[in-house]
Amino acid sequence: MAVDLLLGLQWGDEGKGKIVDVLTSKYDIIARFQGGPNAGHTLEFDGIKHVLRTIPSGIFHESSTNVIGNGVVIDPVVLQKEINDLAKFKIDIKSRLIISRKAHLILPTHRLLDAASETSKGKAKIGSTLKGIGPTYMDKTGRNGIRVGDIELEDFKERYRALADKHESMISFYNVALQYNLEELEEEFFAAIESLKELTFIDSEEYLHQAQKDGKAILCEGAQGSLLDIDFGTYPFVTSSNTTAAGACTGLGIAPNKIKEVYGIFKAYVTRVGSGPFPTELFDEVGTKMATIGNEFGSVTGRQRRCGWLDLVALKYAVQVNGVTQLMMMKGDVLSGFDTLKICTSYNYKGSTIEHLPYNIEPENVTPVYQEFKGWQADLTGMTTYEVLPAELKAYIEFIEKEVEVPIKIVSVGPDRKQTIMR
Ligand code: IMP
Repeated sequence: MAVDLLLGLQWGDEGKGKIVDVLTSKYDIIARFQGGPNAGHTLEFDGIKHVLRTIPSGIFHESSTNVIGNGVVIDPVVLQKEINDLAKFKIDIKSRLIISRKAHLILPTHRLLDAASETSKGKAKIGSTLKGIGPTYMDKTGRNGIRVGDIELEDFKERYRALADKHESMISFYNVALQYNLEELEEEFFAAIESLKELTFIDSEEYLHQAQKDGKAILCEGAQGSLLDIDFGTYPFVTSSNTTAAGACTGLGIAPNKIKEVYGIFKAYVTRVGSGPFPTELFDEVGTKMATIGNEFGSVTGRQRRCGWLDLVALKYAVQVNGVTQLMMMKGDVLSGFDTLKICTSYNYKGSTIEHLPYNIEPENVTPVYQEFKGWQADLTGMTTYEVLPAELKAYIEFIEKEVEVPIKIVSVGPDRKQTIMR
């Protein structure tokens, strides 16, 4: 059986959680490959909204095994809370969730370092979710990190202390006012570590290799979006992992030639949280209308998301970097009720027209060139087949497909599992 891959093509929040949940019945294993609790994957069904942070979105299906891969960074405190929240719904996490020993742990001092680093940046801040993601990946690549497997070692506490002490001296180096009670944070951390020990730790690359040999179907689940990739995103306003397709190989130990379908998820418009360039951003009432109708508020931080028109230059770039084979368009319903819609088809860049994403997409370098589309007024949320969608929406969808040269296989018309049109 092949391994398929699902990832976001914009700046995150495309709706990956919903689609993984919709597709899960086709897969035996759902494996998360990067990021950490900076993610907030929202799933809605039976009138209940769930937000997953570290746990893969297949957790609601009895038949699927959910793997947290080596490329993920885990905050035991957040994971514990997530597990407790799911326990209320009688989900037997222990039988459905397994964790790579090679995944790195987010320490309380990683979160403090994140806050200290952001504060020290002033106006140039990244807009981080402050979950300790950057400092944890820094320790990983700096070869100082603590991994899940270390919990099983006798000297775990000594390793912890040595790293936390180092972090404390780094925090003082930043010279910013930070209020915290480390003792309290550590008490919470070690309690969560004890609970974590009740879960199953595995050598996930070996587990997934064996699963492939046994003919199991595997779906790799990405977090954040391609434009937040540490290498290919809008650096430095990015997250600290490879959110693009290659991240699934390094974050799970899956060989590139085993990957078959690459599902690329995008919104019918664009959103971004945090700082950084966003060429098609709207600063007028149209953007506000998108944010309001689309309920564009961060599921982790509650921050209002910046909104703008669909950017085909950026979308094509993401499709190319990831080798996307099928597209899924989310939140089509949010665009109902606009008289005119726009899609950015190229940029004016330093006096010439370009159709690729340049090194620097700051507003002073890039002006989007738009094509206008007629809007539609119908409410899509009860529509269940492609045929009944308004002609204007079909024209919008088919234009994107033609430009990007990849078929749009799913059109989502609402947050619920059921509001998903397959083509
Ligand atoms: P960090 O990964 O929390 O340090 O945040 C770095 C940047 O990525 C910030 O602009 C965040 O807003 C953004 N970011 C991180 N995780 C997500 C996500 O799951 N959705 C959308 N944006 C995210």
